[in-house]
Amino acid sequence: TAPVERAFLIGLDDPADRGWPVQRSLAELSALAETAGATVVGSAFQRRADPDPVWYFGRGRAAELLDEKAASDFNLLIVDDELEPNQQRSLEKLLDCKVLDRSALIIDIFARHAKTKEGRLQVELAALEYHLPRLTRMWTHLSRTGGGIGTRGPGESQLETDRRLIREKIKKVRADLDAVRRHRTTTARRRDRHEVASVALVGYTNAGKSTLLNALADSDVYAADMLFATLDPTSRQVELPSGQRVVVSDTVGFINKLPHDLVDAFRATLEEVMRADLLLEVVDAADPDFVGQQVAVQTVLDELGAGDKPRITVYNKLDLLPDDAGAPPDSERAVFVSAVTGGG
Ligand code: GTP
Repeated sequence: TAPVERAFLIGLDDPADRGWPVQRSLAELSALAETAGATVVGSAFQRRADPDPVWYFGRGRAAELLDEKAASDFNLLIVDDELEPNQQRSLEKLLDCKVLDRSALIIDIFARHAKTKEGRLQVELAALEYHLPRLTRMWTHLSRTGGGIGTRGPGESQLETDRRLIREKIKKVRADLDAVRRHRTTTARRRDRHEVASVALVGYTNAGKSTLLNALADSDVYAADMLFATLDPTSRQVELPSGQRVVVSDTVGFINKLPHDLVDAFRATLEEVMRADLLLEVVDAADPDFVGQQVAVQTVLDELGAGDKPRITVYNKLDLLPDDAGAPPDSERAVFVSAVTGGG
């Protein structure tokens, strides 16, 4: 059996950043870690605006992590921000355990959930691009303790070879991905020619997009209480009460601090969003932080150039709200529903 990964989480409490408090960010990081199969044994944060260039936390606070390690016996440290390779190296050396950052964790989860060929290629590309600049460490400094597979460090010339191999691999994955994309574009064009309007479901991860698609299309898309259950675009035909047919597509869930390598790799999936005539923004109205999540979703939409497409905001999970919850803020462009009960 695989050893249990006992994870300890750390993050920064940036005094300037009021919209997304560190506690929420760490709670989400914890959900991500559990989704990836780790057991979270504790967390800590430090109030500072910028990470220390060497230790992420301040030097003294970083050293205190050794006491936390002795107390909770963690064997994996997960950092809430993207780490520079040397920060990762010094923390690994200090704590003598594996150190991951938020991006690596998200890529790992995506890798587990990719089902279609395109999904797998996109994750592979993101992972390769993430690892290329970080290749130097290769856990060499851990070899004195554990040893074993993956811990033996290559010499510099070996590293050069590895980098070249990765670059070649990236080129190949890009080409494969292009081929898959061309095929998908053809299918989409055929759809355009038949003048079927297209609707894209967008929203924060776990908002209920897949469940809503099921409810609309009476289908059986995989829905799970898990972050990023949906990785590959899924499209269904839906007949509107008027008899008009539209194509509704599910998309990958958005999340705060989505790694840039991933946004790039998933651009193709998100093309469904750019092509759509209408966006249904699904919001988990029962999540205490749904406003912050809407901000994160808007950021990604703007990045894709789809920020001002026609949109209906779908406040979902109505069944979880108390009866006296307030009216929708902008009722003309918003609906309140429960994808599970069919309410609304
Ligand atoms: P990602 O794939 O992570 O992007 O998630 P998603 O937005 O597709 O969410 P999904 O449909 O997988 O739903 C996430 C969880 O919320 C599941 O456990 C659903 O059963 C639950 N859920 C969705 N809609 C509702 C709702 O209206 N009410 C309640 N109570 N739960 C809901």
